[in-house]
Amino acid sequence: MASGNSFYITTPIFYVNDAPHIGHAYTEVAADVVARWHRQAGDDTWSLTGTDEHGEKILRTATANGTTPQKWADKLVTEAWKPLLETIDIQNDDFIRTTEERHESSVQLFLQRLYDDGYIYSGEYEALYCVGCEEFKPQSEIVNGTGPFEGQKVCAIHSKPLELLKEKNYFFRMSDFTERLLALYEERPDFVQPESARNEVIQFVRQGLSDLSISRSSFDWGVKVPWDDSHVVYVWFDALLNYITAVGYGQDEANFDRRWPATHIVGKDILRFHAVIWPAMLMAAGLEVPKQIFGHGWLLVGGEKMSKSKLTGIAPTEITDTFGSDAFRYYFLRAIAFGQDGSFSWEDLSARYQAELANGFGNLASRVVAMVTKYFDGVVPAPAEYTDVDLAIQEVVKKAADDADSSIDALAIHDALASIWTIVDELNGYITDSEPWALAKDPANAARLGTVLYTAVDGLRALAVLLSPVLPQATHKLWDALGAAEALGALVDQPIRDAGRFGQLPAGSTVSALQALFPRIEPAVA
Ligand code: MSP
Repeated sequence: MASGNSFYITTPIFYVNDAPHIGHAYTEVAADVVARWHRQAGDDTWSLTGTDEHGEKILRTATANGTTPQKWADKLVTEAWKPLLETIDIQNDDFIRTTEERHESSVQLFLQRLYDDGYIYSGEYEALYCVGCEEFKPQSEIVNGTGPFEGQKVCAIHSKPLELLKEKNYFFRMSDFTERLLALYEERPDFVQPESARNEVIQFVRQGLSDLSISRSSFDWGVKVPWDDSHVVYVWFDALLNYITAVGYGQDEANFDRRWPATHIVGKDILRFHAVIWPAMLMAAGLEVPKQIFGHGWLLVGGEKMSKSKLTGIAPTEITDTFGSDAFRYYFLRAIAFGQDGSFSWEDLSARYQAELANGFGNLASRVVAMVTKYFDGVVPAPAEYTDVDLAIQEVVKKAADDADSSIDALAIHDALASIWTIVDELNGYITDSEPWALAKDPANAARLGTVLYTAVDGLRALAVLLSPVLPQATHKLWDALGAAEALGALVDQPIRDAGRFGQLPAGSTVSALQALFPRIEPAVA
């Protein structure tokens, strides 16, 4: 149910030179959780992901594999990138490929507009290029090589030699936008977040911007420059435009007006493209700049960014095959402050799975459902008079729900989870202290027992609603077991901003058996 309050969120579009690792999956999950939250809040939500298929990197990979770039891209999209979305349970609204006609024709339209308005000129260029980054590198990211690359200049991110390119290119007058960009960062402090990312971008732009080379002529795997088909559009210029071509730029103005501007979730390595080049391009075209650009940190292995090319990539299925997609989604968002780097470790994943998901949340749910079954024949009892401890639980639920919503708004996903987990912890403590098993021994305590279990059940109701963006599978099972679907309708239709209002599950609902939400993981046999 859309409220007319537009919320458009994007992930970066992924290079199809290789299959995804958990770093890519991390970006996807973060954007998906935020999208699901807004969707469930009734906002007019649209979430976009997709693939970046042009450029020299893809061309070289395809050639090395004895095929054409189009065939290579088709294979990777079908066999790796679309299946990733299933593996980690992503509910995207659209998937854009930069080789689609809807994208290519709108890229040409955009470029022609900038050309007609005098923002593009032709010139000679000689500079060091990193094919891994698909970028002419700024001085700050050129370092001296070591080991086999001793004596060569290498990319600070990829540690691979840079290539000296000399070409006639078309240039975008990006330098014209230095002052306007600085004013934008000043006027809208939340335009680039987190704060560390914002400061880095401001510092970079303060040094003054150069014009940007936006075409290549030494190969032809890309969108043709409309007025000169001996050139293809620079892959980043092409790729950034996906965010508007996918929602109808130049083709469906009504939809474009409805969706744009977007919130972009990107890794910090590609922040500058999004926070500098992209808004400058939009300004030149007379379009609105994005709503926000959020740069998240990296998953590290041995202190370095996890990457396939450095052979440190872990396939998402290595985790989901054992722990399931819910645990994958939860773990990375809970364990790493969104915006900071984090190291992945199997020990930490197993420990959190056991302590937080299985023992914390899972056991709470099965214990409560089992007690309603045992003491009230499966019928949710009506509460009698609330005491201070019950009211305190109601307050915890309300505050957790409110705090989580504010945190999601600020894209502090880890804080949202921490707030929601106060309900898990407090409810577990409440049950231990209230001792329903002791109350059940004396029929004189039936009213009190009913109040305690009602409070626990409605707390679980709130937890199911609040956790459904993160743990869609487990909360769905819980919702069914609580008999909530019958009384309240589908879980995904529960307005998430109202989740903290206590007492929504009607007494008299019937609970049913709940299998372990997070089953015990048997250690692999060596
Ligand atoms: N194709 C460009 C993006 C174009 S967007 C208009 C690109 N693709 S990528 O496949 O290399 O990376 C996509 C995203 O994955 C980036 O946000 C990047 O930060 C993220 N990650 C890649 N490795 C990562 C980690 N080890 N950890 C976290 N995120 C990482 O760049």
